Amino acid sequence: MEVIIQPNQEAAAALATRILARELRDNPNLVLGLATGQTMECVYRHLVRLHQIEKLDFSLCRTFNLDEYVGLFPSDPNSYRYYMNHHLFRHVNIDLRNTYLPNGLADDLDEECRRYEATIQRLGGIDFQLLGIGKAGHIGFNEPLSALQSRTRVKALTPTTLRQNCAGFGGEDKMPRRAMTMGVGTILESRRCLLLATGSSKAKVIAQAVEGPITSMISATALQLHRRATVIVDEAAASNLVEKDYYRWIFENEPEWEDYR
Ligand code: F6R
Repeated sequence: MEVIIQPNQEAAAALATRILARELRDNPNLVLGLATGQTMECVYRHLVRLHQIEKLDFSLCRTFNLDEYVGLFPSDPNSYRYYMNHHLFRHVNIDLRNTYLPNGLADDLDEECRRYEATIQRLGGIDFQLLGIGKAGHIGFNEPLSALQSRTRVKALTPTTLRQNCAGFGGEDKMPRRAMTMGVGTILESRRCLLLATGSSKAKVIAQAVEGPITSMISATALQLHRRATVIVDEAAASNLVEKDYYRWIFENEPEWEDYR
């Protein structure tokens, strides 16, 4: 795992976007795993700008989102399909038929989860997975005690997540209590993972995820097992990390990051 500390949220999102954009330029057929949430809005804004200004091309890429609420129509502004269309897809030259999210309205949700996994496999697996982190440590909606080998499935949301995400629904009691999410195992199979976290509200969980012991109570700790996981944080989210100076030294000195400094 590598940790990169940036001065603020804007710089952290800009760096994440540059890393992603390079992957896409190197491989226009990229299979891209996407996340939603407030943190990602900034990344999608940067990606749209790169498309408009530098003609970053999405025409051949395929995308898989990490998760979707159970029971919401795609036209519902709280659905993740709506979020993706609104923040990214309709602003870039992506073919919507190449954008996949779990169908939270499927009659048979378990079958839909199996189908989602099979589609990821059929398209060759995920090349690059973008991730955010919840305040209690989830990636996707892999809530505490998600098995480290779990696959796409339905998960009940924790009180922390309901509280974190209820704003748009007009209250916790009005939001779905379940979501479909790629499993921790699904995420670990992607070839590269990039987790972005910003703001002081993520400081505690970032320290646990990066420097704490691997535990299914905090699914983001599983990224310590991944061969190529990069964590980008701003100063606020980095504030509880013990080895900050070491991470900074690596970013400033290792040739791999030369183009990004
Ligand atoms: C959503 C997802 C979640 C979020 C996480 C952080 O698709 O995968 O794991 O990334 O809850 O959300 P924000 O950025 O709103 O704090």
